[in-house]
Amino acid sequence: MNFNLAILPGDGIGPEVTDQALKVLRTVETTYGHSFDCHFADMGAIAIDKHGDPLPQATLDTCMAADAILFGAIGHPRFDNDPTAKVRPEQGLLRLRKSLGLFANIRPVTVYPNLLHLSPLREEKVRGVDFVIFRELTGGIYFGEKGKTEDSAFDNCVYTKIEVERIARLAFEYARLRRNKLTLVDKANVLETSRFWRKIVFDLGAAEYPDVQLDWMYVDNAAMQIIQFPTSFDVVLTENMFGDILSDEASVLAGSLGMLPSASVGSKVALFEPIHGSYPQAAGKDIANPLAAILSAAMLLDHLGLGEEANTVREAVKSVLEAGYGTSDLQAEKTVRCSEMGDLVAGKVGEMAAKAVEMV
Ligand code: IPM
Ligand code: MN
Repeated sequence: MNFNLAILPGDGIGPEVTDQALKVLRTVETTYGHSFDCHFADMGAIAIDKHGDPLPQATLDTCMAADAILFGAIGHPRFDNDPTAKVRPEQGLLRLRKSLGLFANIRPVTVYPNLLHLSPLREEKVRGVDFVIFRELTGGIYFGEKGKTEDSAFDNCVYTKIEVERIARLAFEYARLRRNKLTLVDKANVLETSRFWRKIVFDLGAAEYPDVQLDWMYVDNAAMQIIQFPTSFDVVLTENMFGDILSDEASVLAGSLGMLPSASVGSKVALFEPIHGSYPQAAGKDIANPLAAILSAAMLLDHLGLGEEANTVREAVKSVLEAGYGTSDLQAEKTVRCSEMGDLVAGKVGEMAAKAVEMV
């Protein structure tokens, strides 16, 4: 089949990890007989440098015309410690999410058996961890009215019923495909918006998803439980900022930030990106871990309806790790560079796909 992809390599290590994901997609393309028409565009610090805008209109147009978007990473240290900066790379991503209506950010947290020793937790705590965070992405405190005066500042947190209901529905549906368990994370003992979420989610659960086991947890307690009992979670549903924080926390369970992919979906085109940042210290050195980008490409394939291809990519990643290869963050038996990791996974995908074709 034919697909139109927008590729936004972004900042820091974004371009090099995206290159590896593209290598893998190119192999999928040739071995399975698809065609991915890739359109590159700038977003983030690179777009500020080249066009004076973190999300130029041309980039937005490219994204709107695509079947899916593959994105690398965003951010540059020169903006981080400058509270006076008028434009920031991150604004590009926030505007893109809002413009494309990407209201749900889906972050699977899984661990690989042969990487358990990298986790900051004991192996027996993390073995079998497999949960998914559904983070609301276009509302709440990120997008409420903001303001400041000489001696005060505010960020409003607002949610509408529609905003809560549409992501809750996705999370319930997803729980049905898994272990049928949904945990709503909020701060309903303090926040009006949380009480509002809770009523909507519980009403929806009772009316339409009585088969899904629904419970709730305060966010401070959830932060603790994710460390203490990470295997007890299945699908976690939460608002924008709680989801931002908890998903970074959860990501370290896997042993390396470089392993976790994510999908942002809405009503139109969807976007796929590693959850890690731009890691500027490593940029251009060919040492970054491209697996999160490659696994994001696998989620992209799933989204395009290419489930078999997506599984092949995931299996290829597993098999390369099991063969003892890893980028330096993985402290593997055989340390490889970012580009070599891309070659290894792409090679394995080609091999596995050829075998699958032989068998039919
Ligand atoms: C993320 C990032 C973004 C966020 C930043 C870069 C705006 O941390 O995708 O989690 O806070 O949403
Ligand atoms: Mn974040």
